[in-house]
Amino acid sequence: MDTLEVALGARSYPIHIGAGLIGDRELVGKTITAEQVLIVTDTTVAPLYLDALQRSLAERTCRTHVLAEGEQHKTLATLAEIVDTLVAENFHRDACIVALGGGVVGDIAGFTAACYQRGIDFVQVPTTLLAQVDSSVGGKTAVNHPRAKNMIGAFYQPTAVIADIGTLTTLPPRELAAGLAEVVKYGLILDAKFFGWLEDHVEALLALDADALGHVVRRSCELKAMIVAEDERERGRRALLNLGHTFGHALESLGGYGRWLHGEAVAIGTVLAACTSVELGKLTVSDAERIEALLDRFGLPTRANGLSERAILEAMAIDKKATAAGLNLVLLDAIGTGIIEAAPPDELLLSVLADLAAN
Ligand code: NAD
Ligand code: GLY
Repeated sequence: MDTLEVALGARSYPIHIGAGLIGDRELVGKTITAEQVLIVTDTTVAPLYLDALQRSLAERTCRTHVLAEGEQHKTLATLAEIVDTLVAENFHRDACIVALGGGVVGDIAGFTAACYQRGIDFVQVPTTLLAQVDSSVGGKTAVNHPRAKNMIGAFYQPTAVIADIGTLTTLPPRELAAGLAEVVKYGLILDAKFFGWLEDHVEALLALDADALGHVVRRSCELKAMIVAEDERERGRRALLNLGHTFGHALESLGGYGRWLHGEAVAIGTVLAACTSVELGKLTVSDAERIEALLDRFGLPTRANGLSERAILEAMAIDKKATAAGLNLVLLDAIGTGIIEAAPPDELLLSVLADLAAN
């Protein structure tokens, strides 16, 4: 097992990474210390991993709330249902919520923990690659508004993350690829060497090679922990982690949170960000081709066929990363060097979107 730290002073917490951690009674027992524990999970993950986690928490008062699976349930109504369970079971302020599942479970459970009695502890037990490399770390919690992604939420850090990479063996290939989109992001914004390593390990990763997956989760968490420690509330550099997300969130919302998985929308958004960077003379065409080729080898979509460029631009303007001063975008100066800039004029964005979206 490897343990990293997210260094946030009194709110610092460990990220434990390894295979079989959910069944490690000693680790789980000392990481989740509350007497009352509510495990929030979903209908797909519960039959796979709930028993093992409950066995590791055998001495606690442990209740479970199982959500219907999927992004379309990441709503305030779902949060209210979890609060109903907490109230019905008489959960106190020193209780702990454990999020067992992907990013949807983690985001909803974390936001519920932030709200219940003005904040109770929560521990992330991510079971998708996307959640292990990204959403379980850093304290962004939220639910969606029907018109805009993650519109209602809070920065609220977990007290620990237990990333059991053994759970990735049951992940459907499409979900694995969606997580790899966020992994590619780290290479693009911060670490050219890691991007090159990914190019050399596509087959190993798609074959769920444990060493390759372990390296990917560790390196991604190291990079994310570094950025979060520097800029917890996204006043500056943390926004780099949104590469492809302003485009991607617009696509997710236009697709009714059902056409593309989050990571797939991010992959298309990453290509759009790369093409915008090329148009602005920042990135070379050959680097943009390398980026698209890697996403494609991971089996990710790189085009948003059938959408109008104007609809995408309008959806981007609602994104919560827009400020009164306008929209910022994450662009690339090179592979490994992300930059945050005011969005270019609409005409330029519309021409990039027309090339990549409306085919
Ligand atoms: P998800 O939670 O919907 O999980 C994807 C699917 O995989 C679901 O059907 C789930 O039931 C299933 N699943 C989970 N673990 C499994 C396993 N081990 N084996 C088999 N099936 C399994 O989606 P996700 O991709 O994990 O997360 C996407 C969400 O994360 C989005 O809502 C996105 O906005 C959010 N997100 C948040 C942050 C953040 O910083 N908070 C960062 C990135 C993404
Ligand atoms: N996923 C973006 C962030 O955590 O900031």
